[in-house]
Amino acid sequence: MEIPKRIFLARLPTPIQKLNSVSRRLGKEIYLWRDDLTGFMDSGNKLRKLEFLLADALQKNCDWIITCGGPQSNHTRATAVVARQLGLDVSILTLPKPGYDQDQTATGNLMFNQIFATHQVWLSYEEFQKRGSTYDFFLNAEADRVRALGRKPYIIPLGGSNVLGCFGYANAVNEMVNTWRELVSGSNAPDHLFCALGSAGTYVGLQMGLEEQRLTTELHGINVIGPMPIPVQYVSNLRQSVLETYGIEPHTQQSQMIDGYVGAGYSIASDEDLKFYINLARTEGVMLDPCYTGKAFQGMVTEVEKNPSAYGKRILFLHSGGGFGNFAYAEQYQQVLKRLST
Ligand SMILES: Cc1ncc(COP(=O)(O)O)c(C=O)c1O
Repeated sequence: MEIPKRIFLARLPTPIQKLNSVSRRLGKEIYLWRDDLTGFMDSGNKLRKLEFLLADALQKNCDWIITCGGPQSNHTRATAVVARQLGLDVSILTLPKPGYDQDQTATGNLMFNQIFATHQVWLSYEEFQKRGSTYDFFLNAEADRVRALGRKPYIIPLGGSNVLGCFGYANAVNEMVNTWRELVSGSNAPDHLFCALGSAGTYVGLQMGLEEQRLTTELHGINVIGPMPIPVQYVSNLRQSVLETYGIEPHTQQSQMIDGYVGAGYSIASDEDLKFYINLARTEGVMLDPCYTGKAFQGMVTEVEKNPSAYGKRILFLHSGGGFGNFAYAEQYQQVLKRLST
């Protein structure tokens, strides 16, 4: 397999750290793969995908990046930051949920989207549904608008999760394993690897990388995005594209999607969820995010507690970033913190 061209953006290798308190609680060695530290303003897992996507954009002489996501999308914000550092313009198509107040003070990723983007467009949810509930129509319309300005657009799909984006994590596995072997003496690789499963580029990329390195590590993608047909569809579409483009089969025997941790819905966190993140922050000095890593981490802990014998001795959790997303929950955090202090 020929590896596509890449530009170097992320601060690599990212460290792996042992979580002592969680390890004690679960009776296992639990490690955190600190991909929240890839840089570019907490751009997390997105940066690894963008190294391949933006290499492609530059190779094609594109000068205007177009991408999409929800108001607190880490992906759109990371894309905007990176695009600006490369001297490119960037359009962000933002899809609010029904009832979202677009006039509220922008915070977290949305605030940065507005700062970094050349053009930020709010999509209508009804229109989105009319267009088959995919972003394709809107991305293409924006590309037409940009072309009419005499510029050359490059479209990056939701979450940066296309075949090129997958190479970010396919490539990262080798790096992770080298770091692991230096840290955990006598161990070839983690027994299990957990990650959040959203638009699926991270999960499918990890599958590709684990397979290529012939590792026995079992991969678990915790669904955080919505009802189970959604991630299953994302993974199968992406696998199909990988197969068609590169003729490789990314699916490993040892990978599975785990459901049951979306809670009340995508990007909705309960007070109990926030308490969990606060507790982790206070015991490990690590902040998760309420949308992706928080739910996935809770999923990992619950799964291991339910069935400890199924999870070997050493488990690695991918911290894929998302820290700015916490600011969108500031009021809820305040309420929970007040109750905790009384
Ligand atoms: C912080 C964070 N973690 C995990 C994910 C999930 O990654 P993917 O979309 O590749 O499944 C995302 C994005 O969707 C994210 O922003």
